[in-house]
Amino acid sequence: MFDVVDVVRDAGSEDDWFSAFSESGILRFRGQGPWSQIERLGALDFVGSRFGWRASRPDQITEPLFTYEEDHSHTFGMSDDRGAANEEFVPWHVESPNWFFPQIAAGWWFTRVACRRGVGLTGFVDARDVWELLPDRFRDLALSARFCGFDQGGFGKIESFEAGELLDGRLPVTFTDVDGKSFTQYAHRIVEDHLCSDAKVLRLFPSYGVEAISGENPGMAVFVDDRPAIEEDWAGLREMYEWVASTVRKRDLQHWVQWEEDDFAIVDLHAGYHAVSGGFDPKDRSFKGIWGHEDTGYRIEHGSRPNGVEGLV
Ligand SMILES: [Fe+2]
Repeated sequence: MFDVVDVVRDAGSEDDWFSAFSESGILRFRGQGPWSQIERLGALDFVGSRFGWRASRPDQITEPLFTYEEDHSHTFGMSDDRGAANEEFVPWHVESPNWFFPQIAAGWWFTRVACRRGVGLTGFVDARDVWELLPDRFRDLALSARFCGFDQGGFGKIESFEAGELLDGRLPVTFTDVDGKSFTQYAHRIVEDHLCSDAKVLRLFPSYGVEAISGENPGMAVFVDDRPAIEEDWAGLREMYEWVASTVRKRDLQHWVQWEEDDFAIVDLHAGYHAVSGGFDPKDRSFKGIWGHEDTGYRIEHGSRPNGVEGLV
C-alpha cells in the first residue's frame, strides 16, 4: 500500500531512499523548496536510475526538461460539478498504461495550494494490491492479455490493426488509419513486473468506461494469447474492468495526501493509481510535473515521428 515517506535532500542513505520508494511509492520533500530545475532532475535521475526509468517526455525521450502544468482547468471545464472533499474530482486512473512509453513515474512540485484542510487531496491505490486481490477467475485472462493504444500520435480513426511476430517477448502491432497511414507500437501486458519491486502490478483504466476497450471506436486494441480478443474474451475483460473500477474505490486500499505549497514529490506511477478529491475552487490548486518513462535504452532522434517503434527494433 502506498504511503508518504518524508525525506530530506542531501540526507539519509541512498538505500533508505530506494527502499522507501520501492515500498511506499511516494518520496516527499517538504519545507525544502524552492528547488531549481536542475536539482529536481538530479533527484529524479538519482531515484529513476535505480529503477530503470528516466525523466523525459513520452514522444522525445532525449529531452528531459519537458515540464507540464496541471491546474485542473480541463477538469473544471468538463463539468460544473466541482465535487466535494470526499468525492473524486479527477477520477481514478493510471497514466496511459497502453502507450508505448507510458508515464511510470513523476516529479511533482506544488506551485499553489490554497485549498482548505481536507480538500484537494491526491489519493493513491497500489497496483500491487490490486493484482494481489484479483479474484482467481480473472487471473489467467489478466496474465494472457495485452493492450496497445492508438489514441496518440496525431493519427486519424483506425481502420485496421495487425499483430506481428513476438520480438524479445514483445508483441508489435501495426495500425492503419482511414487515410492509409500506418504505424507500429508494442502492446503492453495488463499485468507487468513492477519496475520498483519484485511484485506484479495490474494496470487498467478504471475510470474511462469499458467502452475504452470495447466500444464503437475504442482507444486501444486488446490481445489475448497474442491474438486479437474475440467475443468470448470480452465478457471476462468487461467484468475484470468493472472489478478494478470498484476495487480502487475501496477506502481501505487508498492513501490520501494533503499537499502544501512548495512540496516536491517523486511518485511511482507504475504502481500508482491515483485520483484527486474535489471541493476546491479553480486556481486554488496547481502543480508542475516532469514525467519519468521506462529507460529502454532506445533514443528517438529529436524531431522524429513520435511514439512509434519503427527504426528502433
Ligand atoms: Fe494522473
